[in-house]
Amino acid sequence: MAGTTHPTASHSKLTVAEPYLIQQDCAAYTPEQHGVWRELVNRRMPQLKEHACQEYLAGFEQIGLQADSIPDLAKVNARLEPLTGWNATPVSGFLPPDAFFEMLAARRFPTTTYIRGRESMEYTPEPDIFHDVLGHVPMHAHPVFADFLEHYGKVCATVMGDKDKLERMGRLFWFTVEFGVIRQDGGIKLYGSGLISSHGEARYVIEGGPEIRDFNLEQVLEQEFKVSEMQKVLYAVESFDQIYEAAKEAEARLCR
Ligand SMILES: [Fe+2]
Repeated sequence: MAGTTHPTASHSKLTVAEPYLIQQDCAAYTPEQHGVWRELVNRRMPQLKEHACQEYLAGFEQIGLQADSIPDLAKVNARLEPLTGWNATPVSGFLPPDAFFEMLAARRFPTTTYIRGRESMEYTPEPDIFHDVLGHVPMHAHPVFADFLEHYGKVCATVMGDKDKLERMGRLFWFTVEFGVIRQDGGIKLYGSGLISSHGEARYVIEGGPEIRDFNLEQVLEQEFKVSEMQKVLYAVESFDQIYEAAKEAEARLCR
């Protein structure tokens, strides 16, 4: 059952992902870099307060994110781990799939520590700490989402050898973790990190750009998408139980 148990803060040892783990050097951030964080957060918050889902906004408060400085991941984790056992773990950059899924299955979110420059305020192809922490980590404080993401990592680790199955699981990630929306308070609210962390993508959704379909696992697993364009189709859930059940259902279908 989702949202009932979680591991303690003593994490199992990572093997495949181990070479990608780094330490975050908070003292090395310059005033200019803190300024970029501040500007990005202050730009996003008015829209997020109105259009992000309740669970995201609650998580933002619970993990203690601040607008004035780049988050110290140790402090974030000190608040996050007691809630769900998740940990935002510093990594050097993009991870290969096996390392990425190993971390998710261990409730450790691969988190970059560098921040974009001023030339990339609107968009950066590489993840940075703004996308990873502001975009992703608040949702990890929600028990059902937390269980979903761990289970998602476990299913992907199981189908690693099958390119077709992995591609389909990648679509599930894209239309939930990255570009997920939820019906709430009579409207469409954002929870996907790609929407939370991008002013332009979020505005496009708020203004009614994409077609919003009811979440349907069968369709999501087959739905192609383009990384470099605004999303034409999004899938709305009614509750986060739905994506937890979807991960279980995907497991039943793909891991037979
Ligand atoms: Fe992301």
